[in-house]
Amino acid sequence: MSDDPTHVREFFGVRAAGWDSRFPDDGPAYAAAVNELGLRPGDAVLDAGCGTGRALPPLRGAVGPTGTVLGADLTPEMLERATAAGRGGVDGTAALLLTDVGRLPVRDGALDAVFGAGLVSHLADPAAGLRELARVVRPGGRLALFHPIGRAALAARHGRQITPDDLRAEPRLRPVLAEAGWRLVSYVDEETRYLAVAVREG
Ligand SMILES: C[S@@+](CC[C@H](N)C(=O)[O-])C[C@H]1O[C@@H](n2cnc3c(N)ncnc32)[C@H](O)[C@@H]1O
Repeated sequence: MSDDPTHVREFFGVRAAGWDSRFPDDGPAYAAAVNELGLRPGDAVLDAGCGTGRALPPLRGAVGPTGTVLGADLTPEMLERATAAGRGGVDGTAALLLTDVGRLPVRDGALDAVFGAGLVSHLADPAAGLRELARVVRPGGRLALFHPIGRAALAARHGRQITPDDLRAEPRLRPVLAEAGWRLVSYVDEETRYLAVAVREG
């Protein structure tokens, strides 16, 4: 698929309604990945490309009632599903933002962490997107790039094979993160989990 925002919206817009029922057993994997962010009560965290908001409940659980949870996505249908599931809106788990994560309405260093599940491969300009995520996170804050299955399993699901030029491959990801202001501190790419955790430099 193209990574143009219009095409991203079209691609995910028609998939939003069935998104959660396609992957009904992913909850524990999301909760475990959120745990790796080391969030504390009162922290502020963004779910970048939140989709239907599957990570929003564990993120809220980690920061507690005094914390801040934002969910950002550029596909309206995804955010509508998040709201319908009780994960957004006035009384919901998170404040939902219809926006491109490459242009966030968030001030510099306002957040303690960013969670991004299934996001990075859809960014038209990943380096710029990761820079924008670094802008909104305080020095020492964390970024988790997650997928509930590894790269090889995901490629197989799409009838492809992984290639070394894949941005999510560690040798490619590490320098792209570094240029954007992140230091990669852990990397796992196995059958049942992809998780890269980075710390905001500065
Ligand atoms: C593979 S889905 C993952 C959704 C959710 N994170 C999950 O794990 O269920 C990718 C999501 O990223 C969103 N997305 C892609 N590019 C984006 C961008 N530049 N800004 C905001 N959201 C984006 C899509 O609309 C879609 O909802």
